[in-house]
Amino acid sequence: MRPTTEQDLAKWAAGTAAVDAYVKDGMQLGLGSGTTSRWFVRALGDAVSRGLDVVGVPTSTSTGELAAEVGVPLTTLAEVDRLDIAFDGADEIDVQGTMIKGGGGSLLWERIVTDAAHRMVAMVDASKTVERLGAFPLPIEVVPFAWQSTGRSVARLLSRLGYPEADLRLRKRDGKTVVTDSGNYLIDAHLRVIEDPLALDGQLNWIPGVVENGLFSGVADEVIIGHQDGTHQIR
Ligand code: 5RP
Repeated sequence: MRPTTEQDLAKWAAGTAAVDAYVKDGMQLGLGSGTTSRWFVRALGDAVSRGLDVVGVPTSTSTGELAAEVGVPLTTLAEVDRLDIAFDGADEIDVQGTMIKGGGGSLLWERIVTDAAHRMVAMVDASKTVERLGAFPLPIEVVPFAWQSTGRSVARLLSRLGYPEADLRLRKRDGKTVVTDSGNYLIDAHLRVIEDPLALDGQLNWIPGVVENGLFSGVADEVIIGHQDGTHQIR
């Protein structure tokens, strides 16, 4: 499979460079979700077919299905203690390596897998790098029970923290509520600019009913930025 658009080419550049630059025989890897991670998984499958010996823990059912299709051996965090590197995409990333993730809805498994890894490498196209986070709506995963009440608690917190205009929307696709791999719902918070991601991250997760949010504060150790001409840089 080849990239068909310029943005795809940039994502392909980041995903394939990640395999070349970081993956070594014997590694246990976190396999991210989203279109950039899918290029990474395909490139990993190519490397496995040439003899590379690795195992991966997928961060979504769809990544697991793709990995199985392209021949990447899979394991679980029940079998593996620590992962060497977690590779994943991002919706936005700042210079501190803080990200907004979860545009694809896999934030909870992504966060668990990243937490189990010694290092995290983010793979993004150049459009994802920002000075300040928040233009991309922040995904918040909530349990379905009383999600409306959880949403109101989130709105009160955001108002207290200085986001009185925050616009919260239950994520739907084709008119149907999106359900995550863990059976939860997603509320997208349109905040525009996030002043203090670390504080917001912690406080959101204290709200009963909130399972996880898409702020990954200072998590990326390295960032591979793919460009539309097929080149990349590592930051
Ligand atoms: C999924 C994610 C993705 O990594 C993020 O949405 C980036 O996706 P893409 O590589 O398709 O732009 O967090 O939950």
